[in-house]
Amino acid sequence: MPIHERDTILDVGCGGGRTVAKLAAAAHAGQVYGIDYAAASVEAARRINREAIAAGRVVIEEASVLALPFADRTFDLVTAAETHFWWQDLAGGMRECHRVLTPGGRMIVIAEFYNGGRHARYAERLTKFTAMASLDVDQHRAMFTDAGFADVQIDEDAAKGWICARGTRRLI
Ligand SMILES: C[S@@+](CC[C@H](N)C(=O)[O-])C[C@H]1O[C@@H](n2cnc3c(N)ncnc32)[C@H](O)[C@@H]1O
Repeated sequence: MPIHERDTILDVGCGGGRTVAKLAAAAHAGQVYGIDYAAASVEAARRINREAIAAGRVVIEEASVLALPFADRTFDLVTAAETHFWWQDLAGGMRECHRVLTPGGRMIVIAEFYNGGRHARYAERLTKFTAMASLDVDQHRAMFTDAGFADVQIDEDAAKGWICARGTRRLI
């Protein structure tokens, strides 16, 4: 997925903030926001991105993907790495990500835990004890189309055990 130097990007479920740091390096004339609902993740992400935060290029906020504290049509790109399977309301989270994207803006979801991948058995065991969702390829496609995304593409490497799902907010 191309990242443009002036992009405004949101990383949801940013965890310790390493993805935010990589995105900020790529969009070096833009701005990157990270949100996470866990205070410990926010603290770690702020620590790792402290220079970019001081330079005004990165903002980390404590928030849930289910209620994003951003105006409609704010971001060129929304990223979600290893997080969507934890969202308490997956459809609601996807609709929120779609809402904050500019028309033509893109969203990418990346995960190693999904139904059909190399780690599926482990994921299945985890779902018995947690609220974690284990979606297959078709369910990943549906989660994008149901939220209103167009140009939905799914890439999968079952042997290595990862899935990457992408979609674009329609222009109209
Ligand atoms: C496995 S970590 C992944 C962190 C990071 N994206 C990465 O790839 O290293 C999952 C993160 O998603 C966050 N998370 C889960 N549900 C969330 C929600 N509803 N809203 C915001 N963050 C959430 C967790 O707090 C956790 O930091």
